[in-house]
Amino acid sequence: MTVKDIFESMDYGPAPESAGDALAWIVDQGSKFGHFIDGSFTAPGEGFESRNPATGEVLATLTQASQSDVDTAVEAARKAQPAWAKLGGAGRARYLYALARLLQKHSRLFAVLESLDNGKPIREARDIDIPQAQRHFYYHAGMAQLMESELPDAQALGVCGQIIPWNFPLLMLSWKIAPALAMGNTVVLKPAEWTSLTALCFADICRQAGLPKGVVNIVTGDGDVGEMIVKAEVDKVAFTGSTAVGRRIREATAGTGKALTLELGGKSPYIVFEDADIDSAVEGLVDAIWFNQGQVCCAGSRLLVQEGISERFHAKLRARMDKLRIGDPLDKCIDVGAIVDPVQRDRIAALVDAHGGEGEVYQPACDLPDGCYYPPTLVSNLSQASALMQDEIFGPVLVSSTFRTPSEAIMLANNTRYGLAASVWSENINVALDIAPKLVAGIVWINGTNMMDAAAGFGGVRESGFGREGGWEGLAAYTKPKNTGKALKPVAAFEGDTAEPQPVDRTAKLYIGGKQARPDGGYARDVYDKSGKLIGQAPISSRKDVRNAVEAARAASGWTGATAHNRAQVLYFLAENLATRKDEFAAQINRMTGGKSGAAEVDASVDRLFTYAAWADKFDGQVRQVPMRGVALAMREACGVIGVFCPDDLPLLGLVSAMAPAIAMGNRVVLVASEPFPLAATDFYQVLETSDVPGGVVNILTGSHEELAPSLATHMDVEAVWSFSGADISAAVEKGGAGNLKRTWVNNGFARDWMGAAGAGREFLEAATEVKTVWVPYGA
Ligand code: NAI
Repeated sequence: MTVKDIFESMDYGPAPESAGDALAWIVDQGSKFGHFIDGSFTAPGEGFESRNPATGEVLATLTQASQSDVDTAVEAARKAQPAWAKLGGAGRARYLYALARLLQKHSRLFAVLESLDNGKPIREARDIDIPQAQRHFYYHAGMAQLMESELPDAQALGVCGQIIPWNFPLLMLSWKIAPALAMGNTVVLKPAEWTSLTALCFADICRQAGLPKGVVNIVTGDGDVGEMIVKAEVDKVAFTGSTAVGRRIREATAGTGKALTLELGGKSPYIVFEDADIDSAVEGLVDAIWFNQGQVCCAGSRLLVQEGISERFHAKLRARMDKLRIGDPLDKCIDVGAIVDPVQRDRIAALVDAHGGEGEVYQPACDLPDGCYYPPTLVSNLSQASALMQDEIFGPVLVSSTFRTPSEAIMLANNTRYGLAASVWSENINVALDIAPKLVAGIVWINGTNMMDAAAGFGGVRESGFGREGGWEGLAAYTKPKNTGKALKPVAAFEGDTAEPQPVDRTAKLYIGGKQARPDGGYARDVYDKSGKLIGQAPISSRKDVRNAVEAARAASGWTGATAHNRAQVLYFLAENLATRKDEFAAQINRMTGGKSGAAEVDASVDRLFTYAAWADKFDGQVRQVPMRGVALAMREACGVIGVFCPDDLPLLGLVSAMAPAIAMGNRVVLVASEPFPLAATDFYQVLETSDVPGGVVNILTGSHEELAPSLATHMDVEAVWSFSGADISAAVEKGGAGNLKRTWVNNGFARDWMGAAGAGREFLEAATEVKTVWVPYGA
C-alpha cells in the first residue's frame, strides 16, 4: 500500500502490541496453574483450558477446585483474618499501596494478558481496565488509613467469598479485593472460568508485595466452585454476574447470617433528546454499547431517541457503525475485539436470531476475522414488549425505539425489571437535571456514559441487585457495627381466660391507607395481661391484608416527592401528639408487657421521632471528586415501599424506631407490629391520624410474623424488607426476597438495645436509602 493509497482510503495500518512478555510469563509459570492458597501456588490438578478467543489458541491450563481446595482456602483466610484486622488501617494501607504500585509497574503485562484472555481491545485494557484497577487499590489504601478515625464503629466482617465474572476480570477483582482488605477482611476469590489469568498474575503480585499469607486466596473453576464458596464458612458473599445466578445465591444464603451484595445485569436506557449534541451522543453511544463488545453490565444497550431527530440520529449512527474497526484485540487501532468465548457468541447470535422478524436489523458490511467475533448490531423500531428490548443480551447489540415527550422517555426508560444505569443526552440543563432523579437506576450519566471510578458508588436497584461498590457507601458492604448484640430472647404473649364476658367490642382494627380496616379474614386474637385478664383483641392479618397495605403504600408516592422539610414537620407533629398521650400509652404498655418501663419507652419513642425529624433534611448526599471532567453526585434516595417486622419486645419503641427513619427518608412503610404485644401499635393509629401523616405512608398490620413473612417478602411491589423479629423471620424474609431481589436488613436473631444508641442513627438511615450516583459535567 502506498502513502497515496493510505491518504485516499484513510485506512489504519495495523499497530499490534506484542504478546511476547505475557506469553513468556505464562510459560514461566509452567503454563499450568494451581490455586493460590495461604500465600503460595498449589500444584496444578485436573482442570480445563483457558483460550484466547481471538485465535482459539490454548493459553494455559487451569485447575478445577475441589471441595477440599475451597475448604483449605477458607481456613487459610480464617486463620489470617484476626492478625490482618489487628494490623490496623495504617498497616493495611501500606500493603494496598504496594499492590497499587506493583499493578502500575506491571501494567503492560496485565493489559496484554487481559486482552489475550478476554478478547478485549488492548486499547481498553491498557487505558481503562488496568488504570482503574490501580486506582481502586490507591483509593482503598486511603480508606484503610482513614478507617479508625472516620468509621470508629465499624469492624471487619471476617472472611469474604467473592465471585466475579469474565467481562472485566482484573477490574472486578480489584473492586472486590481492595475494599475488603482495606476494612480488615481476608478473601477467597474465584475468577470466571474463561478469564482467570490476570487473577493468577495478581496472586503473584501479592507474593511480591509480601502480603501476609492467607489474606488473599484465589481458587479457579466453574460455577460449581462458586457454589462451594457460597456454602463455605464465609461471613460474606460478594457476587457480580448474571441475575439468574444472583437469585440462586440469595436463596442459598438466606437465613445463614452471611452478608451479601449482588451486582447483576442491566438493560440500561440511553436517552437522546432532540436538543442533544447529536455527534457527541453518537460517539457516546459507541462507548455505551461497543465498549468491551457490549459485554458490560451497565452498557447503554437500549437507545431511546426523541422522534424529531430519530431519522437523522439513526443515519449518523449507521454511518458510524460502518467505520468501526473489528479485529485482532492486540491491534491498538481496533475498536471492537473478540467475544469472550464461542458459548457467549452463540448466546448473542441466538437472541438476535430469535427476534422473530420484528424490527430492522442493521449490521455493517464488514468481513469478520476468523475467531470468536460478532458484528456491531442495531435493531431498531422494536416494540417495548419485545424480548430484545427487555432481555440483557450482553453483546454488541443495540436495540432502539423512539419517544415524543420527556414523560414518555421516563416511562419507557423505567419499563424494565432492571435498574443499573442510564444515560441522558440533552444540551438543556433543565431537561437533564429534571430527568435524572426520575430514572429508576443506581447510576445516571448526564451527557456521558460508562464512567466509573473508585470514589463513586456503583450498583443497581430492582433486579440489578443491591449493595454498592466504591465510595464510602461501598465500605458498608465490608464492615459491620462493633456492637452486634446478644441472641434474641423469644417473647411470648400472656395467656388468659377467654370465657370472660365482653361488654363492649374491644377489637382493634388494621391501619391501611390512612383508615382503620377490618382484617380480610375477620379473625382476631385475644390479648391478655400478665394476670390473664383480657385487655383487648388484635386482628389477624392475612395475605390479602398484606396486599391491601402494599397497594396503599404504593399509592402514597406523593410522600417520596414531598420535601424533606415537610416530612420533618410531620415527624415533629407526631412526636408532640405522642407526648401528650404519654400516660395512656405508658399504662397500656405496662399492662400488656407486665413491666414498669412504659413511661421510659414512650419518652424514648418521642425522642426518636424528634431525632428523625432532625435527620429528615440532614442526611445529605455528597459530591465525589472523580478524576474526570465532572463530578459524581452521591444522592440519597428513598428505597420506596419498605416492609418491617417490628421487634416483639418494646412494642412502641421498636415500631417507632423502624418507622421514623424510613418515613423521614421518604419511604412508605408496611409495619407488622409486635406479635405478643400488638395493642401499642393499634393505639398508635390515633396519633398517626391526628398528625397529618398522609394516608398510605404508614400502614400497620397485626398478626403472626411467621404467616405474614412470606407474603410481604415475596410481594413484587415491595422494594425492601427489614426484620427485627426472630431468626426464622430473617430467613423467610431473605428467601422470599430473592424473587425481585429486594434489599433486606435482618437481625438474624440478634437482639438490639432499642433504648440505647444502637436503636437509632446512621445505620437506619443508610438502610432507608439507596445511593444514586449522578455524573454531571462540571468544569469541563
Ligand atoms: P454467570 O453469572 O454464570 O457467571 C459469573 C460468575 O459466577 C462466574 O465466575 C461463574 O463461574 C460463577 N457462577 C456460575 N454459576 C454459579 C453458581 N451457581 N453459584 C456461584 N457462582 C456461580 O454468567 P455467565 O454464564 O458467564 O453469563 C451469562 C449471562 O450473564 C451473560 O450473557 C450476561 O447476560 C450475564 N452476565 C452479567 C454480568 C454482569 O456484570 N452483570 C457478568 C457476566 C455475565
